[in-house]
Amino acid sequence: MRVILVGFMGSGKTTLGKKIANRLEIPFIDSDAEIEAHFGKSISEIFVEFGESHFREIESEYIDALDLREEFVLATGGGMPCFANNMDRLNLLGTSFYLERSPKELTNRLMNAKAKRPLVEGMEDAELLQYVENTLLKREEYYQKAHITLSRSEQEPSQVVTFMHHLRQSQSQKS
Ligand code: S3P
Repeated sequence: MRVILVGFMGSGKTTLGKKIANRLEIPFIDSDAEIEAHFGKSISEIFVEFGESHFREIESEYIDALDLREEFVLATGGGMPCFANNMDRLNLLGTSFYLERSPKELTNRLMNAKAKRPLVEGMEDAELLQYVENTLLKREEYYQKAHITLSRSEQEPSQVVTFMHHLRQSQSQKS
């Protein structure tokens, strides 16, 4: 069983992912945290030292390595699905869920959480809203490719857990 959460920075992938993993009793993984551990550097340091385009290559390679792991709930970095053919590859690995939220809400959530995110670090609030609106507009087409879109009120662990149980049942009936 592989659950993949996609969505903009600040949409709550990590918080929701941990709860789902707990309920499904499978490992929770966070691509940013694993990339940081692998390189012994923070995402901000990786951006400064290697540049964003190199970070995107690292993210693509990270997806290749996921194939070796049988079960997980993955919180992806917000940009991961939106480069190369990453979203299609994530969809082949498991069941993907898009955590949909409005630009206003994302901006509010990000206001106090900019520090570890090099793309928005240091932005004033008005600039941040503009950035979120513009970037989400470009990224939404990738996020929308997820198997399931969860609206704000559906972003509950029970929604995902119930869906995955049904999926498992229907798969075992077929085989
Ligand atoms: C990014 C999102 C971040 C992190 C990096 C770039 C993006 O992950 O991968 O700062 O391009 O949206 P979160 O979505 O966990 O903040």
